[in-house]
Amino acid sequence: MVPFEMEVFASDIHAHPDAAILWRDERLLLLDQRLLPAEERYLELTSCAAAARAITDMVVRGAPALGVTAAYAVVLAARQRYAASPHGWRGEMAGDLDLLAAARPTAVNLGWAVARMRSLIATLDGGDPVPALLWEAERIHREDVASNRAMGAIGAALIERKTSVITHCNAGALATGGYGTALGVIRSAWSAGLIEQVFADETRPWLQGSRLTAWELAHDGIAVRIMTEGAAGRRMQQGGVDWVIVGSDRIAANGDVVNKIGTYNLAVLARHHDVRFMVAAPTSTIDLATATGAEIPIEQRDPSEVLCCGGSRQAAAGIDAWNPVFDVTPAELVDVIVTEKGAVRSPNRKKMAELMVK
Ligand code: MRU
Repeated sequence: MVPFEMEVFASDIHAHPDAAILWRDERLLLLDQRLLPAEERYLELTSCAAAARAITDMVVRGAPALGVTAAYAVVLAARQRYAASPHGWRGEMAGDLDLLAAARPTAVNLGWAVARMRSLIATLDGGDPVPALLWEAERIHREDVASNRAMGAIGAALIERKTSVITHCNAGALATGGYGTALGVIRSAWSAGLIEQVFADETRPWLQGSRLTAWELAHDGIAVRIMTEGAAGRRMQQGGVDWVIVGSDRIAANGDVVNKIGTYNLAVLARHHDVRFMVAAPTSTIDLATATGAEIPIEQRDPSEVLCCGGSRQAAAGIDAWNPVFDVTPAELVDVIVTEKGAVRSPNRKKMAELMVK
């Protein structure tokens, strides 16, 4: 394991959901999402290996946020390799890029950002690569926030009347470069007076819903209540919820949506209860190279994440657990995919391909 170089405490940085990823004084600062909401603490990273570990260990999580983090991590790698070898840095970075891209397997934004930085590296002439790479990383970061704001407006415009909504996991500012995908839509819809209340699934086992989504929404003064995933059917049965709004880690060429485990359950319930199902994701989440959701690698994490809660073991000794952390929602259960390029209703292969050439 590569140790984190240093930990910076929140005393000198005011933690804000829209500032989960910061570049400051040639260092990458990540708001440690494992500790929220109890502690608001940033980790300061100075190497690519430490950034890759921060991704694997869930310091930073959420598909677009992994892409933004990876882009800055490439800058850290370039600085280190160029200082050690001004002529051979490009070749020596190959392993850094592979390590980064493999830090988590499901969210395609991670590989997408590494590929984008790799393409730029291939075009650079001699001299220090850091300024050009930093410029590109900051551009990826800015573009992500702009995409989220565009999706917020497009998604909110689809909500026809004031309603409560259900969301799952955290697809907010913390999971992106800022503003959020699903929570971006909810933020925009809230500003337009279209949201009565948000029901946030707690999202076992990492509790992204109760720890992160509720923290973020409360920060914005948006009415939020936490519920267990198991309560979603009861919630829909009681009425007053017109939409489920979620993000995605990867969308296949046919419109199948991979997102946090439990999303598929919600989509099935939503169809049964005539509740509409919206997925908000930037086009960097769409993977036309993968034909269907069945081909997307689903990350399996340590069983201890399920067997333990709050650091203490809940299951009897000797019991094992199954811990897939994403699932596949078939395109036919999705009413609309909202991207920065527009909304795709009843997604299929043809519509997804058309969207990507816009
Ligand atoms: O395991 P995580 O917390 O990285 O999973 C995150 C999700 O599943 C999000 O819903 C998804 O990345 C969309 S984030 C805008």
